[in-house]
Amino acid sequence: MSSQKLSQNIKDKLIQKTLQHKLKKAENSGNGIASLLKSTTSKQAKANRFDQHPGYQQMQIIKNGAASLGIESPFFRTHEGVAGATSVINGKEVINYASYNYLGLSGHPKVNQAAVDAIEQYGTSVSASRIVSGERPIHQALEAKLAHMYEVDDALAFVSGHATNVTTIGYLFGAKDLIIHDEYIHNSSIVGAQLSGAKRLSFPHNDLDALEALLAEKRHQFERVLIVVEGLYSMDGDHPDLARLVEIKQQHYAFLMVDEAHSFGILGDSGKGLRELYQVAGKDVDIWMGTLSKTMSGCGGYIAGESALIEHLRYMAPGFLYSVGMPAPIAAAALASLEVMEQEPERIHQLMHISKYFLDTAKSLGFNTGESTGIAVIPIILGSSVTAAKASAALFEKGINVQPILYPAVPEQSARLRFFLSCEHTEAQVRETLVLLKTLI
Ligand SMILES: Cc1ncc(COP(=O)(O)O)c(C=O)c1O
Repeated sequence: MSSQKLSQNIKDKLIQKTLQHKLKKAENSGNGIASLLKSTTSKQAKANRFDQHPGYQQMQIIKNGAASLGIESPFFRTHEGVAGATSVINGKEVINYASYNYLGLSGHPKVNQAAVDAIEQYGTSVSASRIVSGERPIHQALEAKLAHMYEVDDALAFVSGHATNVTTIGYLFGAKDLIIHDEYIHNSSIVGAQLSGAKRLSFPHNDLDALEALLAEKRHQFERVLIVVEGLYSMDGDHPDLARLVEIKQQHYAFLMVDEAHSFGILGDSGKGLRELYQVAGKDVDIWMGTLSKTMSGCGGYIAGESALIEHLRYMAPGFLYSVGMPAPIAAAALASLEVMEQEPERIHQLMHISKYFLDTAKSLGFNTGESTGIAVIPIILGSSVTAAKASAALFEKGINVQPILYPAVPEQSARLRFFLSCEHTEAQVRETLVLLKTLI
């Protein structure tokens, strides 16, 4: 008899014993089997209702709590046009800091035109997974451009940024492996790591000494090791030391993955991301990941790296293989965004300028901007979810749209307003916003 069967027998016996015990208890209390069956059935009936789901109930508690404090929900505000430095919500124009249209390319005439042309040529869906009949020249052009910009062999575009991390990490790594990530890593990388079945460990935010110590202690226990960091952290607006990460990963024979969702198009003089800022070669990082939903004005994600990685994912990664190809207008918008980025580098310089102006002004007014380096993402930490939610609601009343980031998305004491800057924000808008905020808290 196998040990698996043996343990199943033991389990069965335990279940039987527990049931007998429950039955006896029910009979002693005079209720008998009918009552036991009734309570079991009512438990199952309760579990079989979506309104009894623990996640839903927790959400209701938060919603009701906010309503009882008179705080209007800041979620699902509906924008009625292009969301850039300004936007129209409920028919009213607001100064907008809640959209990651960093370079103002979503809505740019050249980007719009590229999407329209692609619809004319290919329609709105490619109507199949790329491996079967969903492949279009625009996919290849976008991927070639991304590979060129990263100076790596190849790239692959996926239909969702979140799914890019889930499927890439989830597919490439397994039970014998270790995934070490910054504690602030995006949910998509965590879900990918969970899916992979690898051991998952985190290190304190941007603490590369702690990462080294973990690797020194644990590396030998695992077959492959993946280190995952972000190019620009979207809650805090800071970034890791890429040059040192490359040294660490080389020393410990680990793969390095950098999620550039918020850094590609932003960091570096020409927007080529974290590697441009640290003067690191594209090939020094094993897995470049990014999204097409921020500077690239579309939707989806990409992986860039060596041929063996990209070819492998192209044929095997479930989220690519078993999912429809990216719609041509989205691929065209992303490609056109990259072209405009090259043609109009002043957008990147203006983003740097206005972000620094925001950071300096916020600091001069005494706000806590945490670790933000003052590029594109700047938090103003208010120290409680209620204060942050109230400040967001009050600013919205006055025509300024900024999202509060509340517990549990961040620890309660670091609840904040999170400002996304766009190169199209003006100094006057920034000053008006910060001066108004000062009067509100
Ligand atoms: C760091 C990071 N990675 C991945 C994603 C997922 O990208 P997407 O929203 O394009 O699916 C996000 C989303 O904003 C992100 O911030």
